Amino acid sequence: MAKERTFSIIKPDAVAAGNAGHILQQLTDGGLRPVAMRLVQLTTAQAEGFYGVHRERPFFRDLVKFMTSGPVVVQVLEGENAIAKNRELMGATDSKKAAPGTIRQKYGTDIERNAVHGSDAPETAKFEIGFFFSGAELATLSVG
Ligand code: CMP
Repeated sequence: MAKERTFSIIKPDAVAAGNAGHILQQLTDGGLRPVAMRLVQLTTAQAEGFYGVHRERPFFRDLVKFMTSGPVVVQVLEGENAIAKNRELMGATDSKKAAPGTIRQKYGTDIERNAVHGSDAPETAKFEIGFFFSGAELATLSVG
């Protein structure tokens, strides 16, 4: 499998709890290296746009409220099979059901406050990376 890029968010719960560094270390130990990273406070419009596919879901309003409740770390991770690898390291969406040792199990609380987001497919990764980072920021970056 060739080197791939995925998009990741360390969510407000994890940043507020001081766990961003631990999470970054776990991702790096798992073979994923950040090639772009920013600490941002999302606006409501940004959170709504980013999670637009969930607009009709009953949890959408709460999700937007949570994601704008404090700063988040947005980043592009690079590595072998990065999309699947990141999802494996994160664990199941619901922190209560995530496997022991996964990021969501260790640093999340439930299905909403689940510490991290990661792209679920190549098309999603492309959209999500482009949502936060320009081509100029990413064009020349590569690790390893
Ligand atoms: P994330 O990977 O960021 O993608 C969409 C988010 O919506 C998901 O993580 C959860 O935090 C949230 N989510 C998904 N399903 C539910 C649900 N049933 N109730 C509340 N939040 C949810």
